[in-house]
Amino acid sequence: MNIGVFASGRGSNFQAILNAIQAGLLPARVVLVLSNKGDAGALEIARALSLAAVHLSQKQFPDEGSFAAAMLHVLKEHNVQIVALAGYLKKIPLSVVREYRNRILNIHPALLPSFGGAGMYGHYVHEAVIASGAKLSGATVHLVDEEYDRGPIVLQKAVAVEALDTPETLAEKVLKIEHEIYPLALKAFAENRVTINERSAWIH
Ligand code: GRF
Repeated sequence: MNIGVFASGRGSNFQAILNAIQAGLLPARVVLVLSNKGDAGALEIARALSLAAVHLSQKQFPDEGSFAAAMLHVLKEHNVQIVALAGYLKKIPLSVVREYRNRILNIHPALLPSFGGAGMYGHYVHEAVIASGAKLSGATVHLVDEEYDRGPIVLQKAVAVEALDTPETLAEKVLKIEHEIYPLALKAFAENRVTINERSAWIH
């Protein structure tokens, strides 16, 4: 299974996916790493491994239509079968979501549908979780649809929120879970063990 990874930052989830492939746990290969940031750590990792590393940003295009067309072209050029958003902070253009319906995954650092949606990323998520007094947080792998963080949930794992937790300590606990469940969700797709209905997605 050919994976296209989209990342905006350091790429620790991308690295976790690579580690699972190299350990023989994930029968897939990363054929493309795309970032809206030319200096993203994820692109550095890709370049070091001679993987296709593409800097593609809306800023390089006059309008969303031409940006979306360029993104679709890059995906097809590299025969991407599954897109894995891994710390990618931009919305996916509608035409791309439609073309890759049920084939774009995202990792969110909370237990959706709670603490998701526009503006809910990075430390904002963990601040909101702690402020809410919730006793559990965790990570969610979900399919991407037209809205932020709303598509069918594929896999989740929880972690306790403790009295002395700060957004930083909670982020660290959640990130470990992200690195654990993202490869497992991708493995299920690679092995064709995912059933999707309108309510959710189920691994079997
Ligand atoms: C992670 O917290 C992830 O949940 C979110 O982006 C953050 C950074 O991810 N989607 P990474 O270290 O760049 O993979």
